[in-house]
Order: sequence, then C-alpha cells, then structure tokens
Amino acid sequence: MAMITYKGESYTCEKDETVLVCLLRHKVFVPNACQSGVCQSCMMKAVQGTPPKVAQTGLKDTLVAQHHFLACICKPEEDLEVSLYDSSKDWMLAEVLEKSLLNESVVRLRLKPQHKIDYMAGQFINIKGQDGTSIRSYSLASLPTEDYLELHIKRVPDGLVSNYLHDIVAVGDSLSIMGATGDCFYTNRDQAQPLLMIGVGTGLAPLYGVIRDALAKDHTGSIHVYHGSLATPGLYYIDELRNLANEHESLSYTPCVLHGDAPEGGQQGDIQSVVRTDFPDLKGYRVYICGDPQIVDSIKKQCFMSGASMADIYSDPFDFS
Ligand SMILES: Cc1cc2nc3c(=O)[nH]c(=O)nc-3n(C[C@H](O)[C@H](O)[C@H](O)COP(=O)(O)OP(=O)(O)OC[C@H]3O[C@@H](n4cnc5c(N)ncnc54)[C@H](O)[C@@H]3O)c2cc1C
Ligand code: FES
Repeated sequence: MAMITYKGESYTCEKDETVLVCLLRHKVFVPNACQSGVCQSCMMKAVQGTPPKVAQTGLKDTLVAQHHFLACICKPEEDLEVSLYDSSKDWMLAEVLEKSLLNESVVRLRLKPQHKIDYMAGQFINIKGQDGTSIRSYSLASLPTEDYLELHIKRVPDGLVSNYLHDIVAVGDSLSIMGATGDCFYTNRDQAQPLLMIGVGTGLAPLYGVIRDALAKDHTGSIHVYHGSLATPGLYYIDELRNLANEHESLSYTPCVLHGDAPEGGQQGDIQSVVRTDFPDLKGYRVYICGDPQIVDSIKKQCFMSGASMADIYSDPFDFS
C-alpha cells in the first residue's frame, strides 16, 4: 500500500485505489468531474515519487516533464508526495452571447471568451458550475473560425451544472471556462478516407464541428452522419444537417430513433444495429463516436469487430461520475 502525502498530511492508499478516491475518502477536496482520465480537472503534481505512466495519458509533454498526473486514474505504485495543479491561470471568463433551446432538453449556448482560445473543432472545454468548484466538460460544436464557442447541453435530471446552465445562466452572464482539450477532431492525413460519424444525443455537438471542419478542409471521401435519439423530439439540427447534405454530395445524414417514426430519410431502430446493418465492413473507414459512454463503448467495439482499425476510431464518451 502506498502512502500519499498532501499538504503535510499522509494518507494510506488502499490496493487498487486511485489517488483521487484516496484523498476524497479522507475528506480532502480535489477538483474532479469525469473520474475517467478525460477532462483533466483532477490534475496534480508529484513533488516526490513517480506516478505511473498511464496516469499521464493525454497530458501535454510539458506537463508530463513537470511530473503532473491525473489523480482519477493514478493507482500509485510507490509513495507519492503530491500537490494540486494550479489551474488558476488556465481559467478565463466567457460571456453568454446567445441561449436557445434546440429541443425540449437541449440548450445551445454561444459564448465569447475573454481571450481567443486555440482549439480544434470537436474538442471540449470545462465549465465551472454556480458553486465555483463543480467542473463539467462540454464539447465544442463551433469551428475555430467562428467568433463564438457553441455548446449543446442536455438537461440531466437533478444534474448540478446542466440545470444551472439551462435554468439560471442568462445572456450577458459570464461563465468560467478552461480549455480546450480532447482528441476527437479531424485531421487531413487521408482526405479520401471514408468517414463514419455516430452521435447519440448531444454527442452531435463535437460531430457538428468535426463534420464542418472536414468539409472546410476539402475532405474528398464520403462522410456518413448518424444521429441517434430515443424518439424524434430528442433529435435536433435536422434541417442544418439536411442542408449540409444537400450542399455536399459526399455527405449523407441519417437520423435514427428507437421509438416511433423516424424523420424523413431516417431509420427506426437502435443506432448500433442500424450502423451494423448499413456498414457490415468498416475496413479502411475512419470512425467518430460521441455521446453516452455505454453506447459509445459498445459501438466502438462493434466498429472494431467490423474491421475499422483502432487507430482510426476516435471516440468522445461523455463520462460522468
Ligand atoms: C469529454 C466530455 C464531453 C462532454 N460533452 C458534453 C456535451 O457536449 N453536452 C452535454 O450535454 N454533456 C456533455 N458531457 C457531460 C457533462 O460533462 C456532464 O457530465 C453532464 O452535463 C451532467 O452534469 P450535471 O452536473 O448536470 O450532473 P451531475 O450533478 O454530475 O449528475 C447528477 C446525476 O446524474 C447522473 N448523470 C450525470 N450525467 C448523466 C448522463 N449523461 N446520463 C445519465 N445520468 C447522468 C450522475 O451520476 C448523478 O447521479 C461531456 C462529458 C465529457 C467527459
Ligand atoms: S480526468 Fe480526472 S476527473 Fe476528469
């Protein structure tokens, strides 16, 4: 069992326990959100001792070189003395420029950050909730060339931050944001490669950015977009995606609904079965899958089994703790 020393106090880390769980168990607060090594809100620094390499997955080289690590995926193999990463310089204010409902449970926010942020379409930012300590990640549906950041936020029953963004935040308010990060974005390494994009619910947000980015970068291969929801009212951007498909011969758009009738040109059924039937062989395809973590994980396995190479599967599971 490793000992974790933080602010002069030492805590026993149980076998298979992460540094985050160990500290929280001892009532030591560490910022966190996804608890799965994605959002980077739990970043800490090893002052003494070496964190396992896997706990540095996705961190910039400069952060790795300074012994930073993600507490939520760090199962220490030796005693560690740790400090909190000082993220204060990474946060900035962003003004809410526009707020509108995309359907009964998804709100669109457009934000103007205090400073321009460098990002790739499809990456995500972190936002602080009303209490100033809760942090949640939201994917960017905008393009870096657009002069606002666009987010699609689904209301989660009893959800702290999503309900704050739905009910309390108003146009003109400022939000604390940090980012962007994430590796679900378009690269033009093979412009003729066929792309398959699968989004569930607000999983469309990053894809809406990635699709338009690929088109803006003159992707020549076909682009197949599937957007899934329980029923038609849960879909959104139907007209926008149809318009894109009308403007670009290479693009096809298929809305999928589990229950009830699908919109024209769509399919009824679970999105995973629909994709399996439409794409029995995914050899040579690049696949993007975003949204509910369980569905993303399951479709990811299916796409691999259907022949897509793991290196060609980009996924953005909306993990939550
Ligand atoms: C990389 C990344 C990108 C994301 N992008 C988006 C995005 O573009 N749009 C978006 O709407 N969300 C996105 N999310 C999810 C988002 O970060 C929050 O987890 C979500 O808004 C819920 O936060 P909350 O504070 O409202 O709920 P919480 O207060 O955290 O949770 C309330 C309760 O609901 C449960 N819960 C939380 N989320 C869900 C869920 N999705 N389904 C079922 N139960 C849940 C919790 O376990 C808890 O019991 C993303 C997550 C990640 C990691
Ligand atoms: S990366 Fe650790 S809480 Fe998200």
